[in-house]
Amino acid sequence: MIVDAQGRRFRNLRVSLTAACNYACTYCVPDGKRLQAAVAELGASELLRAVRLLVESAGIDKLRITGGEPLLSPKFDEFLPAVMRLPLKDVSVTTNGQFLPKKADLIVASGLKRINVSLDTLNALRFRSIAKSGDLATVLDGIDRMLRAGLNVKVNMVPMKSANVDQILPMLDYCLERGIELRFIELMNMGHLKYSAAYQRDFFGMDDILALIGRRYEFARTDAAYDSTSVRYEIPGEGTFGIIANESEPFCASCTRLRLSSNGYLYGCLSSTKRHPIADLLQLPDDQAKTLLQTRLMGALGDKQTVQFKGEVTVMKFIGG
Ligand code: 5AD
Repeated sequence: MIVDAQGRRFRNLRVSLTAACNYACTYCVPDGKRLQAAVAELGASELLRAVRLLVESAGIDKLRITGGEPLLSPKFDEFLPAVMRLPLKDVSVTTNGQFLPKKADLIVASGLKRINVSLDTLNALRFRSIAKSGDLATVLDGIDRMLRAGLNVKVNMVPMKSANVDQILPMLDYCLERGIELRFIELMNMGHLKYSAAYQRDFFGMDDILALIGRRYEFARTDAAYDSTSVRYEIPGEGTFGIIANESEPFCASCTRLRLSSNGYLYGCLSSTKRHPIADLLQLPDDQAKTLLQTRLMGALGDKQTVQFKGEVTVMKFIGG
């Protein structure tokens, strides 16, 4: 097992099935420009082999399927049931929810227990102005289907001053009523935001979020896993919510995440443009592939930052959210 000087090792793997997305969210891409899918994306069987090698030789025991939008990819239907058969403690999916009603039966049949849906507003018009596409009612229907099937649902919301701060309490109420943990993600200084004034203008951080929630609810900080990205709060008798406070409370020191992009690169840090190709070693027999993989993994682990999330021009949809 590879461990760095801060005692960090890889444990959580996030696999991006495709960089393509049917949305063009303002915080992810500029001016409604949908970025194209990466060229030379790996197929489902290659990605599965990569995951299996990483599980067997890197100590990965948690997997998140992400994108782009993973449900958009034709690989999803083969990939999900196959990873459910791997010896993993936890598998989850991050989706924008637009194809959830369509994929609900497949997801439920796979035995998946947890799903995270990105949703930034409950206002249909505002939804379009943030995501530039999609339909709110379809996402809400997808969430209902997941809840009815007994899945644990989390909702991710990125609060932005100019877009959806007034939605924080309605979103929280919606989630509390349904037993969903809402997680506020502090706007990350990445992609096109890295050199844009929009970042400072729109950032609405942990202190602001808590002050706003405090107007309606009493809450107390509660436990979160050692390598969790979120700070969790309990509203007694109502439920929990979380804040992924990459700026206000960076979690780099206990980060166990490793990312695999759809075109076959390992990324050790969301805030780094450094990447380590593995497509070449997927052509080799297991033992040779695993030996080479160790060097790439050491490289990726070395890319982790010491304390703080610096941000980079890397776009979430390429690196895998
Ligand atoms: N800041 C914060 N969150 C972001 N996401 C994508 N780009 C950013 C950003 N710049 C989030 C999406 C989704 C998750 C995969 O990443 O909202 O919930």
